Amino acid sequence: MPAIPPLRLGVNVDHVATLRNARGGRVPDPVRAALLAIEAGADGITAHLREDRRHIRDDDMARLKAEISKPLNFEMAATAEMLQIALATKPHAACLVPERRTEVTTEGGLDVVGQCDALGPFIARLGDAGIRVSLFIAADPAQIEMAAKLKSPVIEIHVGAWCDAVAEGQKPKAEAEWQRIVAGAKLAQSAGLEVHAGHGLDYVTAETISALPQIVELNIGHFMMGEAMFVGLPQTVRDMRAAMDRGRKSLRGHR
Ligand code: PXP
Repeated sequence: MPAIPPLRLGVNVDHVATLRNARGGRVPDPVRAALLAIEAGADGITAHLREDRRHIRDDDMARLKAEISKPLNFEMAATAEMLQIALATKPHAACLVPERRTEVTTEGGLDVVGQCDALGPFIARLGDAGIRVSLFIAADPAQIEMAAKLKSPVIEIHVGAWCDAVAEGQKPKAEAEWQRIVAGAKLAQSAGLEVHAGHGLDYVTAETISALPQIVELNIGHFMMGEAMFVGLPQTVRDMRAAMDRGRKSLRGHR
């Protein structure tokens, strides 16, 4: 049986900036959160520079790149403006996400099939600059196959619908979404893609999904920042790490 790869925890610090921006000024500082998260065991930091700069700002992204010792994952829309900023920032990775001004959060996956002509050169530009590209997509076979065809090295599966169904106790929906994720992760790995997952994860869903050996990175933000308000960020990172380790050990629902 092949060895189970380690599972990385990427901590998304967007909502530290959301809180800062609610008042203006400099606190709380997302870079301080990133440094604390790394000290507590995070394997990387994710930040999303949205077109409207509602949370992370240009200066935050530059400071994150300059100050953190672990990989920076730059979440971005596939626009000319973001491409220039990413090329100048040179993060370890860039995760391409769909973005709509009116949405509260990233509501769905990127339509890689519909936008393949525009995304191909975009992925190539980032890749040529040494930035590891990830496409944030639904666990949909057509999207996964197109991501492989466009030579994206990584996909991140949008698991938000599954997390919502679990949280709301909608068992049949949660099971159907889970089966899509399991099948999608297997398909992606067999197509040569590295597989990440994110959106809406909490301790329960992170533990469950950690049992999928195809998945090597989870990116988690909102739940962790909420927990951090009550128990502190270092404790939250340690608790999330423990949930992931429990899931990885049990390895249920796969093979
Ligand atoms: N991964 C991606 C690509 C995202 O867009 C987001 C949300 O910004 C996350 C992970 C983290 O989602 P959440 O904040 O719900 O944990």
